[in-house]
Amino acid sequence: MKTLIVYYSYTNNNEMLAKILREKLKCDILKVEAVKKRNGFRIALDLLFNRTPRIKPYLCDIASYDQFVFVAPIWAGKIASPLKTFIMQERFYIQNYSFITICGGQPGQKQKLTTNLINLVQQEPGVVRELWINNLLPDDKRNTIKYTSEYRIQPEDLAKFDTEIDEFLTDIYASHASKQIVAQRSGGDDI
Ligand SMILES: Cc1cc2nc3c(=O)[nH]c(=O)nc-3n(C[C@H](O)[C@H](O)[C@H](O)COP(=O)(O)O)c2cc1C
Repeated sequence: MKTLIVYYSYTNNNEMLAKILREKLKCDILKVEAVKKRNGFRIALDLLFNRTPRIKPYLCDIASYDQFVFVAPIWAGKIASPLKTFIMQERFYIQNYSFITICGGQPGQKQKLTTNLINLVQQEPGVVRELWINNLLPDDKRNTIKYTSEYRIQPEDLAKFDTEIDEFLTDIYASHASKQIVAQRSGGDDI
């Protein structure tokens, strides 16, 4: 299995996560960058008009990978627009994929993200996982966009997420293995 981590990060939280995943998976990694760096105004317009902002060209043979791990922030319940551009550009090559994010955290959001991914890739994701900043905040600052969006992840925060990150990795291997079994079974019907 050849895995590629593809990530976008605006304020570096998800970049830190992507780099931890690369250490654990020992695989290749690709950073997605918008041609016009995002700011609050551009993010708002992306969301309002459902835009796919242009991204910088990358030197990477996407077709040579058979598993993708996408990492990006969530903006207004959606996957950050530059990663959306990448997925739409490359979806033909994306067979097995999973998604993980460090986001503010909202109940019920995971289902929306899963639907968002299915619409983009036209395929079910293996695993979708949210790591909630809310769980790092004191009670009086939870569920407030000001505090969640201003929060900058520290190395000790990643240590707190370590069990969830390891569960995510176990789940993606399990998901890949079960897909292979299904493929083998459906391939075995031709006798
Ligand atoms: C404009 C904006 C909208 C956001 N909307 C959500 C949201 O709907 N749900 C959520 O869980 N987090 C939301 N967040 C929080 C980000 O997902 C979170 O801060 C993330 O860790 C930022 O990642 P980054 O540092 O990699 O850019 C939002 C942040 C911003 C700036």
